[in-house]
Amino acid sequence: MELINVIEDRYSVRGFTNQEIEKEKLDAVLEAGRLAPTGVNFQPFKVYVIDTKENKEELTKIYSQPWFVEAPIVLAVVVDKTKSWTRPWDGKNIADIDGTIVMDHMILRATDLGLGTCYIAAFKKEEAIEFLDLDENEEPVLFTPLGYPNAKRSDRPRKPIDELVVYK
Ligand SMILES: Cc1cc2nc3c(=O)[nH]c(=O)nc-3n(C[C@H](O)[C@H](O)[C@H](O)COP(=O)(O)O)c2cc1C
Repeated sequence: MELINVIEDRYSVRGFTNQEIEKEKLDAVLEAGRLAPTGVNFQPFKVYVIDTKENKEELTKIYSQPWFVEAPIVLAVVVDKTKSWTRPWDGKNIADIDGTIVMDHMILRATDLGLGTCYIAAFKKEEAIEFLDLDENEEPVLFTPLGYPNAKRSDRPRKPIDELVVYK
């Protein structure tokens, strides 16, 4: 698909069939994450591939919407803030930005392959840390279910370009 069509086709999928994901498609999604750029190329992230059926109870504690556990797989991007770049002059650590780009790459590739996703930031962090068995430097950034869509897109209009772009 043309990149612009992928961007236009992606929407937050909040309903999935239980159809399994072909291994080649999962691998292609993960490869897109691997290729994502990170600050100074530090690659301070891990992607967790979670089997929904095996972990339904734990996943529901992390994010309780029923559609979150409908797809066969949930992906989580986790960053290590001690391994990411920090802007020296004001202390801004960019781990979250790195992790978000990784998730965005995977989500756009998934869309390209006909799979549905939904960025999830409204998860319970402590429950996620416990389930993923993270150490104190690691932080979950985003989750997404990954599966075949079983829900239509809802109308989410975007602001007009002149409200969003500032030329100076
Ligand atoms: C960083 C980020 C976090 C989000 N977190 C959630 C979430 O926790 N739960 C949810 O249902 N949707 C979440 N969304 C989805 C947004 O609500 C959605 O992208 C937005 O309404 C635009 O709709 P669209 O994705 O269908 O274009 C998130 C989106 C982004 C980009």
